[in-house]
Amino acid sequence: MSTAATPVRLGDYRPPDWRVTDVELIFDLDPAETIVEACLRVERDGDAAAPLHLDGEQLELLSLQVDDRPLEADVYRLDARSLTVFDLPPVASIRTRARIRPAANTALQGLYLSGGAANGFLLTQCEAEGFRRITWFPDRPDVLARYTVTLRADRARYPVLLANGNAVAAGEDDGGRHWARFVDPHPKPCYLFALVAGRLERIEKPFVTAEGRQVRIVVHAQADAIAQCRWALDCIETAMRWDEQRFGRCYDLDVFHVVATHDFTMGAMENKGLNIFNSKYLLADVDEATDEDFRHVLAVVGHEYFHNWSGNRVTCRDWFQLSLKEGLTVYREQEFESDVASRTLRRIEDVRTLWRAQFPEDAGPLSHPVRPAQYSAIDNFYTATVYEKGAEIVRMLATALGRDGFRRGLDRYFERHDGRAATIEDFLAALGEANGRDLSPWLAWYEQAGTPELSAEGRHDAASGRYALTLRQHLPQAGPGRPLPIPVALALFDRGGRRLAAQASGPSPLSGDGVIVLDRAEATWTFEVGAAAPVVSLLRGYSAPVRLAQTADPSDLAVLARHEDDGFNRWLAVDTLVRRLFADALQGDTRSAVHDAWLDALAGLLGDASADPALIAEVLTLPDETTLSEGLQRIDPEAVHAARSQLEARLADALEPQLAARYAALETIAAAAVDPASQARRRLRNRCLTLLARAAPRYLELARTQWRQAANLTDRLAALACLLQAQAPDAPEALDAFAQRHADRPLVIDKWFSLQATVAHDDAVERVAALTAHPAFRWENPNKVYALLLTFALRNPRGFHRVDGAGYHLIAESIARVDALTPQVAARLATSLGGWRRYEPVRRAQMRHAIERLRARPHVSADLSDILDRSLA
Ligand code: BES
Ligand code: ZN
Repeated sequence: MSTAATPVRLGDYRPPDWRVTDVELIFDLDPAETIVEACLRVERDGDAAAPLHLDGEQLELLSLQVDDRPLEADVYRLDARSLTVFDLPPVASIRTRARIRPAANTALQGLYLSGGAANGFLLTQCEAEGFRRITWFPDRPDVLARYTVTLRADRARYPVLLANGNAVAAGEDDGGRHWARFVDPHPKPCYLFALVAGRLERIEKPFVTAEGRQVRIVVHAQADAIAQCRWALDCIETAMRWDEQRFGRCYDLDVFHVVATHDFTMGAMENKGLNIFNSKYLLADVDEATDEDFRHVLAVVGHEYFHNWSGNRVTCRDWFQLSLKEGLTVYREQEFESDVASRTLRRIEDVRTLWRAQFPEDAGPLSHPVRPAQYSAIDNFYTATVYEKGAEIVRMLATALGRDGFRRGLDRYFERHDGRAATIEDFLAALGEANGRDLSPWLAWYEQAGTPELSAEGRHDAASGRYALTLRQHLPQAGPGRPLPIPVALALFDRGGRRLAAQASGPSPLSGDGVIVLDRAEATWTFEVGAAAPVVSLLRGYSAPVRLAQTADPSDLAVLARHEDDGFNRWLAVDTLVRRLFADALQGDTRSAVHDAWLDALAGLLGDASADPALIAEVLTLPDETTLSEGLQRIDPEAVHAARSQLEARLADALEPQLAARYAALETIAAAAVDPASQARRRLRNRCLTLLARAAPRYLELARTQWRQAANLTDRLAALACLLQAQAPDAPEALDAFAQRHADRPLVIDKWFSLQATVAHDDAVERVAALTAHPAFRWENPNKVYALLLTFALRNPRGFHRVDGAGYHLIAESIARVDALTPQVAARLATSLGGWRRYEPVRRAQMRHAIERLRARPHVSADLSDILDRSLA
């Protein structure tokens, strides 16, 4: 059993003793052995006695010079993790040569080979701490340097050479080799370094920034994928224009490269001027990508591009500040998609993600603040909390400051910290100063873990015509925490659904946007509403990431489901009804009054010709089992599955005629159209089909027809899922046909694996286990592991939590196997066991045992030990 790394603490932060002003890197590229020559110009900045500490791992030292002289053995110390140089003058140049082995690098951190030995290409992934696997360097984000990079490689095998910044020179070498040199004028931390070398095709388009800079946008991919990059190229242009218009941020180099790879542990990476993407977030055409994929490409392309300012021009002082760039950039990405596609839809999806992933994370042993106070393995802190809750905090700040105030604050932040590394305090200070406000109470959101509970109590007094709304907040896990500023967007309606323009008085004013801020444990606002009791709609647009204690009357929720003009809260009203019903169903109560309110609301929405079809599809989609289990004390996944299925069957039965009519009416959607309106119609149509296929076997004929006629992947996959779900006799044949049709398309095969992993049949574990032996499955490829195994663990609760423990066993074995190859992926897979304490006793014991057995193995990576240790703590 391996010991975990000693934790790093935020409180121990010290500025670097040495700065690196300039870096020159020369790569002699070869998959088996690459030689990296690095010359760092270092300057002392602090303690005169402090030696120069450089990080370095898995590097073989070939030579070491200071100011062009070889170094005596007694003035440096080399170990497996670092190189320390003593007695340096205040300014020095350090030259190292190292040998590294890209083809043997299965961790996919540092320099590695994508696509196999024969036709592969070389690329890098450095965030968070991969640069130390390329050369010795102070691998910390507060050391910003200017980079000049020269790449040398065999011309036939590596015709395309790319690195950050602008290409400045190129030429031929002997023996069929060539070289190219790049200068990045913007100082950057080493985690943003990247290079790519290989046989890649490209497509490009020109772009002129609002500042008049002529930019080439270039997307690169291997020959079999380049035809699917058009959508991404268009999305990049859309993102560049949007950031100029919405936030005044322009691109700042002459070229912007984006590269696709099938071998990537994460989604995508924002390296300066050279973004690298997991192919699943870059490639999209209608035959091989679903509508959801198209949306993801738009969002992820936007996300990585927006980092050019929120992350790259202004970076993080240390990794504790990760949410400074990630939370802010997720928020920017959400706003981007909201502006160019659908705001309501994006909001529903984000809130679903928050509930499914972040709330459970924050309720279990892996809970941590958005800015953690310590970490052992930083790779494991790219979490739903840092990302999603971090984005929610930025959203709340934007809500509290208003659109213009937030923009002013962000301008101040970028201007003040441009070219430097910043902290979350810096961010709050810039936003606050630009608005004449003290935002320091907001730091509590970054420092306190756990999901706050908000409760609301309304009292109407007919005689005075006043409505008193009392809001209370409570943070369950944390002890005596500081109160959080909670913006509550609200609206009042009469029972006919008309909006009331009520005056309010209370401890904070009601803003023009209808927002009050609860900044203490409890407070009451009074509204002048008249003699009739109002219907109140709280947390419009989900204005704060809290758990709202749901006490609203079902008939009030029905009014909101029908009349609320905030699309999100219209959906929320229905979702609230469903959760009540689910709670009743778990207790065996299946015929409550809530039931009728729910079905009436759904029927009303289905019949509302003016309602967005995508919104209707969403209200017809019940929360998933993970979300429904959230908040339960002793989860029994069988019972959760049964109760949810029962509700879904009820829905399908009750609405069958309307669903069938809607399905038929939506027949003529152009198969190749991916505009938001076409996507919305397709979403509703496929949702109707899915429900109908559950309502009665005869509707499987509709699915079969759709399966035969489908002219895009969205429709084909939806039909296939219906057949599989229903265990139709022809389902196996359809599965085979699908696999054959897309045999040489890895991303489509990933969907085929995922679909089978999610089906909740009795033999799900055996099926998934058998699929790991399928020729298309590869343990070295993170996409395959995620598509089959992570999907099974997260999206098939009934299978994963099978009471005999077979699901845990399969995932534990898989974690062990992957840990020997790609520790970051193993650690991510292991988070699926983290919630063990919340299950009923039999499963709880099995899960715990699985974690303990994994922990006791002889070789456990640092990333995996960190997750296992925290899970057990
Ligand atoms: N900077 C991250 C990529 C990253 C994550 C590198 C973890 C190293 C470790 C990138 O900007 C990012 O956030 N990517 C997301 C996708 C995004 C759309 C949320 C990812 O990779 O999941
Ligand atoms: Zn990011």
